[in-house]
Amino acid sequence: MTIQDKALRKEWHPVLLSSALREDPVPVVILGEKVAVFRTSQGVHAFKDLCIHRGVPLSLGKVKEDELVCAYHGWSYNGCGACTRIPSLPADRAIPMRAKAIVYECVEAHGFIWVCLGVPLSPLPQVSSYIPAGFKEVLMGPYTLQAAGPRIIENFLDVSHLMFVHEGHLGDSAYAEINDYQVQEENGVLTSEEIIVYQPDSDGTGRGVHSRYVYEVFSPLCAAFTKREKDSDYLFRLFLMVLPVTEQESKAFMLKQRNYAYEEADEVFVRFQDMLIEQDRVMVENQKPELLPLDLQAELHLNTDRLSIAYRKRLRELGVTFGTA
Ligand code: FES
Ligand code: CO
Repeated sequence: MTIQDKALRKEWHPVLLSSALREDPVPVVILGEKVAVFRTSQGVHAFKDLCIHRGVPLSLGKVKEDELVCAYHGWSYNGCGACTRIPSLPADRAIPMRAKAIVYECVEAHGFIWVCLGVPLSPLPQVSSYIPAGFKEVLMGPYTLQAAGPRIIENFLDVSHLMFVHEGHLGDSAYAEINDYQVQEENGVLTSEEIIVYQPDSDGTGRGVHSRYVYEVFSPLCAAFTKREKDSDYLFRLFLMVLPVTEQESKAFMLKQRNYAYEEADEVFVRFQDMLIEQDRVMVENQKPELLPLDLQAELHLNTDRLSIAYRKRLRELGVTFGTA
């Protein structure tokens, strides 16, 4: 079932790591819609994963000479979705006008392939404007989670779970108190004030530090935090971008940036994140109701949940119906 969420249909959704898209088309699902993603010499393309001839998924086909060729009867579609060749048609017969693929916006940016099912709000995904020079970056994902996208984003924004779900790594339950902080909104981006957390192992390299967190929410399913250590210039930023496969299944992609530990193997950070995700999985896959309640009376909020409250309000303002129970 496809999900007709007007707000989310205007967003860029990460669907694949660039490295996962090679010669063959790859099937993905966005808001319940099956999409075939493929690469030609002109760039990346996304079509509805359905051949108009007999309903076979176009992702079963092959890319030949920069066109997507259907596996069933060999109809060939160019990057604009026009059918250019029907092998069974006698040479003097015109290709029917309706022989077209349904084309979605698709871009490759910053190591990911992104698709928008509607008219995008901006030419490129927001993450493209946050690429500091000289930072070491690691791309991660996809992590498949049986949870609603907004539940996953809210878990990422939830500082008071760090001392319990990630105890011994991102927090210590003996130091669970959260300082008061405010959340500002500017140009549609939510930003928190600093929240200080004692972390026995803040990033997988085993250093115990007091981290100063600043959270940002860019769009319904894209957020980041920047962590600065109290006594150093070390800066660590983690983006979370969630693909809503269906209402209750998601794929999480992450982009980690750091300005230190350049020699450390990426594997160290990836393994650490893999472990954290498994800890979070137990929570987000079991929350009820499955969809994030946008009615602020529905759950019990504390002052320390200010960021979650702001996020829920923002989703309401944007008209995200997807998260409404
Ligand atoms: Fe695609 Fe026939 S179903 S060419
Ligand atoms: Co967590």
